[in-house]
Amino acid sequence: MAAFEPIAGSVEEEFGVPIPGVIQPQELWARTALKKVPEGKIAWAELFGRVAPVVIDIGCGNGRSMLTSAIAHPEYDFLGVDILPVVIRYATRRGNQRGLANTRWAVIGGRELLANHVDAGSVTEIHCYHPQPYYRKDQVGLRLITPDFLSLVHRSLVSGGRFVIQTDHPGYWAYMTKILPVFFEFREQKGPWPHAVKGITRREIIARSHGLPIFLGEGIARSDLDSEKAISLAESLPLPTFNADRRLQALDQMERGDMGGSGRSKNRPARRRR
Ligand SMILES: C[S@@+](CC[C@H](N)C(=O)[O-])C[C@H]1O[C@@H](n2cnc3c(N)ncnc32)[C@H](O)[C@@H]1O
Repeated sequence: MAAFEPIAGSVEEEFGVPIPGVIQPQELWARTALKKVPEGKIAWAELFGRVAPVVIDIGCGNGRSMLTSAIAHPEYDFLGVDILPVVIRYATRRGNQRGLANTRWAVIGGRELLANHVDAGSVTEIHCYHPQPYYRKDQVGLRLITPDFLSLVHRSLVSGGRFVIQTDHPGYWAYMTKILPVFFEFREQKGPWPHAVKGITRREIIARSHGLPIFLGEGIARSDLDSEKAISLAESLPLPTFNADRRLQALDQMERGDMGGSGRSKNRPARRRR
């Protein structure tokens, strides 16, 4: 992991965009790592030590989007998951050093999390930013956004719960926009999210800096669909077998580059708020 001096009062940047939050003095750091997802369904109140609406970020990467939300909404609890241990380490460090006791981070696949560990109707929002399109033919089966996955998202959400999704991949978006309305009252958002115009995530910042279009939207879980109907509908819908545009692959390399505070990232003192 790249060296990063956690100086209290400093903010981090990547690609010239500040990572939300300020490093706290060590005595205020939180403990946000979830070393192992508990067996069975997660008891949210036990996990966070309080009763609050729960938000999950699936494929959270280095945690930027969830840090933004957790700071803006201290009244919500947030779980970020990713299959890559290294990105969860970065995200956990950032949550800890910002004293964000309303965050937890864990290494686990999104489908496994929802299928095995999340009770039906227990989560207020699920976010998924830039799920990997997986370019190679033999990896197509790893694509996260499938009808089955969306039926699990639908099942996990409370009544009126929200699903937020975003990608820079036109082929994936074309597929998503066909099947999302089956499970959600879906609306496409034009332009960036107003609270993060330079990019809500690391991947969005990289894609925007290359002039790529970003596709984003949100949906409310359809109330006219019960879990059983959602599952049987999912079985009848097509799988994401689109042909991925390999030109976008170059961005993956940049995304995997340093996430820990070097390169274009740096410490600098927090600006005083006026
Ligand atoms: C393109 S990156 C986007 C990361 C972050 N959301 C962003 O926008 O910067 C996709 C992330 O999804 C993770 N991922 C891939 N498959 C996953 C799965 N089945 N469950 C959870 N995370 C997954 C990858 O490890 C990677 O960190």
